[in-house]
Amino acid sequence: MAEETATRITVPALLAKKRNGERITALTAYDFPAARVVDEAGVDLVLVGDSLGMVVLGYENTVPVTMEEMLHHTRAVTRAVRRALVVGDMPYFSFHLSRDETVRNASRFLKEAGASAVKVEGAGAKRLKLIEALVEAEIPVLGHVGLTPQSIHHLGRFKVRGKSREEARRILDGALSLEKAGVFAVVLECVPRELAREVTARLRVPTIGIGAGPHCDGQILVFHDLTGFTTGYLPKFVKKYLDLQDLLSRAVGDYVRDVRRGAFPEDAHSFHLPPEDCRALPSWLGAGRKRKGRA
Ligand code: KIV
Repeated sequence: MAEETATRITVPALLAKKRNGERITALTAYDFPAARVVDEAGVDLVLVGDSLGMVVLGYENTVPVTMEEMLHHTRAVTRAVRRALVVGDMPYFSFHLSRDETVRNASRFLKEAGASAVKVEGAGAKRLKLIEALVEAEIPVLGHVGLTPQSIHHLGRFKVRGKSREEARRILDGALSLEKAGVFAVVLECVPRELAREVTARLRVPTIGIGAGPHCDGQILVFHDLTGFTTGYLPKFVKKYLDLQDLLSRAVGDYVRDVRRGAFPEDAHSFHLPPEDCRALPSWLGAGRKRKGRA
């Protein structure tokens, strides 16, 4: 394994990257094999995002995702990751009721699923108090402003945020308040690149952009978008590096055709008895009626 992949990425290491002007790489992952690929490629931060609900579980949006689903997938990811910082995404309504419940839910990502931090959407006054409580409980928090998909019912639809003076101001203030509350980095989702550049310049902690242009301290994408393992709508900000859906459809189609025409399995995929046991087999099994079928 490359030398860079040997040392575990920590929260202080991410902060140092911003100070040193090194870009941070981040991606989502939801299962063992994908997390292994992502980690071995040298990605710094792996987010087990609640986008899980849409790209893996088939929900229409992220609202239905539960704590148990998030923990189940976070465990699979932490079993695979050797180097990257693993962040578990707090699902909708896991941090909305009380301080105690928020801290208890967040601690489960660390204690039961092996994550090193959690992500929390939003930067309202009530949210900031809860984030302070998490930081006080030694739980590193990744903030998230701009488009916050858990607010879908409130927003009506997913669209670029921060295009008006008021919204741009609100996003900057939100990011600054998150920094004050103690987050170690802030995800900026779907905001104009000019705004992301300003926010990035005004924060000491790193910004990690998704649909926020090139001036953020780091970038994150959804694994299934980057690899083309999806048939649905792809947002403008996604660069599809592979058409995995097409490759998989072709491979599975070939398998179905091969089975139907008897071309799979071949002898190379079969087990054999030694010749003498082969001859003895009928006597091992005794007499019995044979059904009609393939020989
Ligand atoms: O859930 C998720 O995958 C996210 C990223 C898109 C930042 O929140």
